[in-house]
Parts: sequence; structure tokens; C-alpha cells
Amino acid sequence: MSDLSSLFQPLQAGALQAANRIWMAPLTRTRAGEEHLANALMAEHYAQRASAGLLIAEATMAMPGCSAFWREPGVHSDAQVAGWRLVTDAVHAAGGRIVLQIWHGGRACHPDLNDGRQPVAPSALAITNDTVHTPSGKVPYVTPRALEEAEIPGIVEGFAHAARQAMAAGFDGVEVHGANGYLIDEFLRDGSNQRTDGYGGTREKRARFLFEVLEAVIAVWGSDRVGLRLSPLNSYNDMRDSDPVGLAGWLAGELNRFRLAYLHLMRGDFYNQQKGDVLTPVRAAWQGVLVTNMGYSAEEAAATVASGQADAVAFGVPFLANPDLPARIRAGAPLNAADPATFYSPGPAGYTDYPVWSQ
Ligand SMILES: Cc1cc2nc3c(=O)[nH]c(=O)nc-3n(C[C@H](O)[C@H](O)[C@H](O)COP(=O)(O)O)c2cc1C
Repeated sequence: MSDLSSLFQPLQAGALQAANRIWMAPLTRTRAGEEHLANALMAEHYAQRASAGLLIAEATMAMPGCSAFWREPGVHSDAQVAGWRLVTDAVHAAGGRIVLQIWHGGRACHPDLNDGRQPVAPSALAITNDTVHTPSGKVPYVTPRALEEAEIPGIVEGFAHAARQAMAAGFDGVEVHGANGYLIDEFLRDGSNQRTDGYGGTREKRARFLFEVLEAVIAVWGSDRVGLRLSPLNSYNDMRDSDPVGLAGWLAGELNRFRLAYLHLMRGDFYNQQKGDVLTPVRAAWQGVLVTNMGYSAEEAAATVASGQADAVAFGVPFLANPDLPARIRAGAPLNAADPATFYSPGPAGYTDYPVWSQ
């Protein structure tokens, strides 16, 4: 058996103490119901996975009107905070650490999920290569409205509010969702940002919205409890950039001044359209804790951490299907296969019923 011991070293990520380098990637599972409320079922799901070095809870609506997945959770209302409190209490009782991924879905939001409201985005460009799941089935995305410059401070304040709410809910920190073609990422990449004002054009201007969100969230939490997720290569949600590798390396250097708890990098593309090595330039430029993700086996993850290419690896689908993933990796035990049919279905099936390993 290969040497997997690097994955079991503790890691200090800002103020976050991770017992190991096997983190759980954020996974939207749409179990929060129409009111976007975290609940006892979700508490059970996350507590089952508390042996992760850090649990990154799923993308959660920072503000009303930005639902991009039917029945995903929110954190903007006090009832939602009370729902998340069930989750954080259960995870902490099980000895885990948990941060909340806060997001705005941008152009991936749909009027049918948001009381008829047209989605907003940097530019009026629709997602054309996919459909969105709504109460009436899968439907095409709609063309968003380009945000007025004067509206942007209100959205930044929405992220600050979500950060305060996450603190009230008992999380250990927050992860800002800057990945996968949602609002922040839409500003970052030139395929979705064609603005000519202070938030578009050069990469400095395209990153301005992200930097303003980070400043606002750090003002709530302190920098050492704030992480950031990026996916420079991912073409999911119809995303492109003319220079994804250059953007990633440049951003990593600029981000040093925020002294984040960690930077969480998705190294690839769900659809394998945009190729390149973003991990090497980001590692070279970023001076903090680096978490990598996407398609890692335990063996590759251990080698990546042992070589210093990254400090931790976040596992998505493997953690979804294996609540006891660290114990299985340590024992060299087989992994449960994930069932995609239950990724976004309601109820406990395929959510809290994946078995733990027994010899
Ligand atoms: C069902 C499902 C839900 C996901 N939800 C989110 C999410 O809420 N936020 C996010 O940043 N990524 C999300 N992702 C991406 C995963 O975090 C991860 O990047 C992806 O599964 C690749 O990692 P893996 O190869 O270890 O599974 C999701 C992926 C899946 C399969």
C-alpha cells in the first residue's frame, strides 16, 4: 500500500485547526426545502462526515432572490440561521469543524426560483449550454440583466450580512464562492464580463467585485476564518476566459494581501474543454494554505500533499458517498460508489444512508 501518511498530518489554516488534510468539498444537495432552511436531516448528513479535516458546507444563498438550485439552503433570514445552528451543533458535538460556502448564483438564478425576478450578472449574457431544474422541470436559463454599477455595493453588503448570519449560526468560518460560473466568477472571467465600467475590462477591474466581497466578509470574521474557492478552468455554466492560467496566477498573487485562511482551487474543468495547469502558478504565487480539488484519488492526494504542491485536498463525490472517508483511506478500505440519481433528490435516500465501512 502506498504511503498515505501525509494526509493525516494536522493543518493550521489561519485560525482553523484541521485534524487532517482530507477536507470535504462543498456539495449542493438540495435538501433544504422551498423555504431554503437547513434542518435535522442536513445536520445528520454533515455530522456523519465530521471526521473531515474541514467540512465546507454547500453553496448557500447569501441574500434573497439568488436561488440557482431548487431547494438549496439560505442564510439570510433568522429562521435559516436557526436551521444551520442544528448543523453546526451536530458537527461540533461530533468533533468536526465546519465553514459555510456563501454565494450569489448570478445568471444561473432563474425567475421560477425567485418569485419571477430576472437574474442579474455582470453582462446580459445567458448560459446557453445547459438547463436549470425548477419546480416545473428542466428549463433553459434566461438572459440576465447587467447590474448597474450603483447596485454592486448592495450585493457586497449582502455578502457581509451572510457572513454575520453564518457567525450567528455557529460556523467556524466562511468560504466565499468565487467558482463555477456564479456571480463572483462571472465578474472574474472575460467570457461572461463584458463591462466597460469600473468592474470590467482589465483583470484588475474584473477582480474588483471579488476583492470588495472579501474585504466585507473579512471585516466580519477576520481574515483567518475566511477561505475562497476559485475554478479558473471550469467551463461549467458556459464559462470561458481568454487566459485562465494567467488569471489564476495573477489572482493568487493579489490575494496574498487578504491573508485568507486558505485558497481552495479546483484544478480542472468538469467538461474537459479548458485545459492547463493552474495549480503550479497558483502555488508559486500564493503564500498561504492551498487546498486543491477535483478528481483526486487518495494516492494522488497524498503525493500532492507530501510533495508540497498543496496543503490539503478537498474531496467531493468520494465524501458524498463515504461518510467515513478518512477512516477508509487510512485502512485502505474500498469506497462506496456514489448514486447520481439522488444527488439533488429530496429526503434521506442517497444522503444519510451511505454505509460506513465495517471489516
Ligand atoms: C452533487 C454536487 C454538488 C456540488 N455542489 C457544489 C457547491 O455547492 N459548491 C461548489 O463550489 N462546488 C460544488 N460541487 C463541486 C464539488 O465541490 C467538487 O468540486 C467536484 O465534485 C469535484 O471534486 P471530486 O472529484 O472530489 O468530486 C458539486 C459537485 C457535485 C457532484
